[in-house]
Amino acid sequence: MKNSQIHFSDRLTEIDLYQLQHLFNLAAFWAKGRSIKDLRTAIANSKPVISVWNQEQLIGFARAASDGIYRATIWDVVIHPEYQGKGLGIKLVETVLAHPVMQVERVYLMTTNQQKFYEKIGFQTNSTTTMVLYNQTDLSSIPTGEVKLQESLKG
Ligand SMILES: CC(C)(COP(=O)(O)OP(=O)(O)OC[C@H]1O[C@@H](n2cnc3c(N)ncnc32)[C@H](O)[C@@H]1OP(=O)(O)O)[C@@H](O)C(=O)NCCC(=O)NCCS
Repeated sequence: MKNSQIHFSDRLTEIDLYQLQHLFNLAAFWAKGRSIKDLRTAIANSKPVISVWNQEQLIGFARAASDGIYRATIWDVVIHPEYQGKGLGIKLVETVLAHPVMQVERVYLMTTNQQKFYEKIGFQTNSTTTMVLYNQTDLSSIPTGEVKLQESLKG
């Protein structure tokens, strides 16, 4: 691998969704089986979206969502297995963090087993604040008092 052939991009138009789907199926256990349609939606609603290329081959990807001032979250960080361990993962996350919309108070991310990798970039374990809501199609589980309050706020 010649380093000069590798480049990073923040251009959405460059993302080949079929290559991205393949990369996720290969190396991202949480993102296997995602459809092209859903990947398109996720990318359209993310900023920045950073891709890593060896010439025409997609070898890395990461995306984030940010409010531009307070909080941002990084998602779907992956480097192709054949290119791991060469410093590209750190450069990928640093490229995400360097983007203007990522200059916020706090950047969050969720990781199952890559804590040591993110610690090298400066992330700290934060076990006290994280909660998750698994998407519910049945909204009847929301307490009715809350719903009435929301309705009254509409004025
Ligand atoms: C995690 C991942 C993005 C790291 O990318 P990478 O290109 O292999 O990482 P780098 O080569 O930039 O590694 C940078 C440093 O982190 C270390 N590192 C990388 N992964 C590590 C791990 N799992 N545990 C401990 N250290 C790790 C490297 O040894 C290197 O250390 P050094 O600078 O002292 O040599 C890549 O392994 C990957 O895509 N894994 C599968 C998908 C995944 O788990 N993504 C994260 C989801 S939250």
